[in-house]
Amino acid sequence: MDKLRIRGGNPLKGQISISGAKNAALPLQAACLLTDEKLTLTNLPLLADITTMNRLLAQHGVEVHINGRDAFGSSGRSVELDAGDIFNLTAPYDLVRKMRASVLVLGPLLARFGQAKVSLPGGCAIGTRPVDLHIKGLQAMGAQIDIEGGYILAKAPEGGLVGAEFVFPQVSVGATENLMMAATLAKGETILMNAAREPEIGDLARCLIAMGAEIEGIGSDRLVIKGKDRLHGATYAVLPDRIEAGTFAMAAAITGGELELVGARMADLKSVVKTLAGAHVKVTETANGLLVASNGDLVGVDVMTEPFPGFPTDLQAQMMALMCVAKGASMITETIFENRFMHVPELTRMGANITVHGSSALVRGVPKLTGAPVMATDLRASVSLVLAGLAAQGETTVNRIYHLDRGYERVEAKLAACGADMERVKEED
Ligand code: EPZ
Repeated sequence: MDKLRIRGGNPLKGQISISGAKNAALPLQAACLLTDEKLTLTNLPLLADITTMNRLLAQHGVEVHINGRDAFGSSGRSVELDAGDIFNLTAPYDLVRKMRASVLVLGPLLARFGQAKVSLPGGCAIGTRPVDLHIKGLQAMGAQIDIEGGYILAKAPEGGLVGAEFVFPQVSVGATENLMMAATLAKGETILMNAAREPEIGDLARCLIAMGAEIEGIGSDRLVIKGKDRLHGATYAVLPDRIEAGTFAMAAAITGGELELVGARMADLKSVVKTLAGAHVKVTETANGLLVASNGDLVGVDVMTEPFPGFPTDLQAQMMALMCVAKGASMITETIFENRFMHVPELTRMGANITVHGSSALVRGVPKLTGAPVMATDLRASVSLVLAGLAAQGETTVNRIYHLDRGYERVEAKLAACGADMERVKEED
């Protein structure tokens, strides 16, 4: 198993190209199941999760081609997905437990084929993460759903799913995506209220529209979808990853550096930019993306995670790393997931002063962090330790970086090109 070795203290300077967004790409890949024509996706990030989704789709019968070649078990910058010949409507436990986003095949399979069997994902490191809203929404569209042997068994009524009005009792990104996809092939109109407004939802809606779907309300919490008999093929480019961009913005800030994030979009990062401004980190728009600059003189700010357009939970751990070395105190409150502070004990091992009270963490800034061997059990917690390592005195080794590889493309190469002293090493080294 690989690990990262980081010697902290170098201010980062230069340009980083932001990759396509993992959390936009995964639902877009699942959307191929809605049509018997080819869906070509471009600007995909080269990540383990994208490969896992290709593998899941392939076992349903999707032909996955990269550069014209059969790509089962690999991934590429662009991929052609042809779901013309689906022979298996089951998403097995082995793949779903590896990656929760696998549940996104449920809506499309059920809408196009009238049935689907998808393993329940189970809990994960950051929380219990139930899928009850996905199920309730599909039931509102007429599906009969039973849970048996750890699987969701879903069946559409004779004649297919029917449009419905569904109010999400709680904002859910994945459930909004699943229901929006299902609604594109349902009979009549579906209205989704209190829908998630994340940019990744807009990306999926735009791709579905390119495939012939009719969707209104993009960017709002009320989505109106008029069902069609069929969708067709399309070519669609995945949007740039706002979470990768936000992470590198914080890397520039924590090292007192200056990075241009090529492809990053202000509109997707407004709350983050505002929070960073409060911490004395300057973010400005350039012709290529965003320029982030800091003189290292950081100030503590309070942060509360919220659904978009609020501060994203996927940047909470990174922001906490930043606040560890800011002047004064910062209260960080996590409202989306109940167990997303796993980075706290590891940051503490590096000299941070953090006290957790329920869903809030009080971070009192310290003048310096010190390098240490650390590890984390989820993606964003792992990258927060990388940020802490970049600022720390001495050497940090981040273990178990397969979590990082799920969501950050060549993170060490991108940061090292901007002056970070870091390398990937094999566990046995
Ligand atoms: C997406 O997860 C992202 N994953 C997550 O990214 C992200 O943290 C999360 O949205 C919130 O922004 C992908 O897009 C692939 P939710 P998702 O449904 O869709 C509860 C990362 O690091 N809930 O919006 O699974 C749930 O438990 C990650 O890249 C229900 O109660 O998140 C949570 O508390 C991890 N019932 C809240 O809603 C449901 O049926 C929001 O979850 C569904 C969700």
